[in-house]
Amino acid sequence: MTEKTLLAVIALCLTVLLTPRPQAQDLPQLGTSPVKDVVAAMTLEEKARLVIGYLPALRKVDRRTMDFSVLDFDYPGLGFAIGKVDRLGIPATIVSDGSYGLKKYIKNPDGKWGTTAFPVPILVSSTWDTELANTVATAYGNEGKEYGVDALLGPAMNIQRDPLLGRNFEYYSEDPLLSGKMAAATVRGIQSNNVGAVIKHFVVNNQETNRIANDTRLTTRALREIYLRGFEIAVEEAQPWMIMTSYNKVNGTYTSERRDLLVDLVRGEWGFDGIFITDFNGDGWSPWQVAAGNDLIMPGTTYHRQNIIDAVNDGSLKQSELDTATANLLRYIVKTNEFKGYDYRRDPDLESHAQTARKAAAEGFVLLKNDNALPVPPQVKSALFGISSYKLNVSGVGSGNVRSDYVVNLSDAMPDLDGQVSGFYTSYINDVIQGAPKSDRKFFGNVPLEFVEQLPGDQLVETAATESDVAIVTIGRNAGEGADRKPEKGDWLLTDTETRLLQKVTDAFHAENKKVVVVLNVDGVVETASWKNMVDGILLAWLPGQEGGKAMADVLTGKVNPSGKLPITFHNSYSDTPTHPNFPHDYVHPHDKKIFDYAATMRDTHENGKTKRREKPVSEWVKNVDYTNYEEDIYVGYRYYDTFDKPVSYPFGFGLSYTTFKYGKPRLTEIDEGYRVDIEVANTGSAAGKEVLQFYASSPATPAGQPAHELVAFAKTRLLEPGEKQSLKLVFTKKDLARYDSARVAWILDAGQYILASASSSRDIRASTTIVVTKEQVLESTTNSVQPEAALNVIKPCVDPAGQTTVCS
Ligand code: BGC
Repeated sequence: MTEKTLLAVIALCLTVLLTPRPQAQDLPQLGTSPVKDVVAAMTLEEKARLVIGYLPALRKVDRRTMDFSVLDFDYPGLGFAIGKVDRLGIPATIVSDGSYGLKKYIKNPDGKWGTTAFPVPILVSSTWDTELANTVATAYGNEGKEYGVDALLGPAMNIQRDPLLGRNFEYYSEDPLLSGKMAAATVRGIQSNNVGAVIKHFVVNNQETNRIANDTRLTTRALREIYLRGFEIAVEEAQPWMIMTSYNKVNGTYTSERRDLLVDLVRGEWGFDGIFITDFNGDGWSPWQVAAGNDLIMPGTTYHRQNIIDAVNDGSLKQSELDTATANLLRYIVKTNEFKGYDYRRDPDLESHAQTARKAAAEGFVLLKNDNALPVPPQVKSALFGISSYKLNVSGVGSGNVRSDYVVNLSDAMPDLDGQVSGFYTSYINDVIQGAPKSDRKFFGNVPLEFVEQLPGDQLVETAATESDVAIVTIGRNAGEGADRKPEKGDWLLTDTETRLLQKVTDAFHAENKKVVVVLNVDGVVETASWKNMVDGILLAWLPGQEGGKAMADVLTGKVNPSGKLPITFHNSYSDTPTHPNFPHDYVHPHDKKIFDYAATMRDTHENGKTKRREKPVSEWVKNVDYTNYEEDIYVGYRYYDTFDKPVSYPFGFGLSYTTFKYGKPRLTEIDEGYRVDIEVANTGSAAGKEVLQFYASSPATPAGQPAHELVAFAKTRLLEPGEKQSLKLVFTKKDLARYDSARVAWILDAGQYILASASSSRDIRASTTIVVTKEQVLESTTNSVQPEAALNVIKPCVDPAGQTTVCS
């Protein structure tokens, strides 16, 4: 070393030693300094920790006492934290599950959960009342706020593509418009508390079987019109703070690794400015997920964190991509109640939330059949059959399940019960069910009938028929995350015992000239065609939440007039569904309860700068498990049944009332956003009630094929007294009438005549009007995302010589 070099080195060392070290007060601070300065001050390790989140936030400790320094381990906890970097003023913020209530993992100091189990989303969408959906979400968003949770992992809004999808109860509808509007109302409700909403699972996550690796293959038209449309509405109308990407692949690539979907389409086309987070455990390769536009790998483990650090170091993840995710997360943190110093008190107004849960439940019940059986007089003596009459199925199973401190069963709420029948069931429940080992119950997976239905003896049923006024038989079902349902007895079909129970009760009660009503306390669609003629009334009560029993009694006794309508078709037999050849209804997952072990076996590895994807060889792929072809294309639910004129048990949008309604002529006006329809609805019956009015559009025929009609708008009246009228205003856009043309990469409004019909269900059209579009319009050119398009043999309508619409391929 020359003398000159030596002097230079000494000078450098002195400069380093004498330069004052940045003190906390000199460092940029989140909130006061520009976000980019905070990002610049973060180390690679800190950024990697931020984008993978922490866990388990709510399971063991209260956040006030939580020691975040110890959260550096592999554990798939639920409820997680994002943050924290003290030196830069970045606090820890908390996210918890919340598709229909706040999921908590620890009880309050008084030993109570202090949370409300609201009705499940399929019930909330059955209200067709966006204001009510908003009120429900405002209430559970408030529970989030009052327990220090900054964002709730809901609403879940995948399309109910097949009636046996295990998580249908957690989703809204088979229709994208209804799903999108319900999700938007829910997002607004949650976020009115300054608690973030997370719409999930983006996108085309329509089966639970092998949900972490299934490749969903579909046309771009189906993707745009059916599977993206609801998310698009929710983003544009409500700007959720977050979107959760799904586990599955779409047309060959994991959704969470598709930059064309996240950045080009959702951020670029829809203007989304929140953050993207992966689904739990972030299956996929984290560096690719961040590069694709995910800001948070939910929730982090050392595996994910190290992969990100290594990828930046070896150049396979650009520093700028990690910085973008970091900056997006910091912008989120700044918005939170935690950052704003909200002093949460663990004391939400549980009484008023219980009232909301009860009201919403009753408004979402759907009266499917009523041969002068309902309402029963308030002081009626009823004989309650079925275990679920005494042990309500409150909510679904899986991550969204909410703990409540009590449950009101139907037996707790009906005024006067036949004591002998009640005694029969309650002693079975007390002696057998209460003693059953709890460990047998599953958190995830198929939920077989938890307890075998009991068949009361002939004598008991016959005596009940003479001594009580009406029989109510509750049929119970539940389902859950991690497995799909089966078209079998005990799930989609009644068990032999249930059929015998219905037979026995109807024989005995009908012999006494008394009515039999079935209450369906179920997670999703069940078969009704084979037994509905046996009984006099059917009330679909879904999974109604903790106040379910009271809500059931409200409707059965006429305190509340039912006004719910079906958000999904009740088809006749499972083989009638357009999806059954392409849905895993007969598959038994070998891993079942070991879903996370299975996920772990799929982990990718990274060596010498190259990522190796751990996947089953394609030659071993099993249809409907490793890949699923969406051959029904856009013909999902009523779009299929109504286009191809298939008989159904109860159509989409169907629901009876204790009164009748008459609709006036629709009056259509062109407005800036598209069209407005004014329709007068009159209560022509003798009970006060509410009506859901639906508006469907039939588009001109195109070579691409069009569904018979599609829902474009809906509205619900206020409570109308007998003779009272209300003028409803429904608004829809030109895009609601348009079709997506994959070849032209655009939304097209075809030239021709559009028939617009007011309806009480998709099969009960009341009046119509028309719009004529004189010249084709290209409404929107889009990005060409999710290519290559799957080459599928999709369904198309063809008109045969007899004028009948049939399926042609
Ligand atoms: C579910 C998500 C949920 C997450 C965290 C996942 O298994 O798919 O809906 O938010 O777990 O509990």
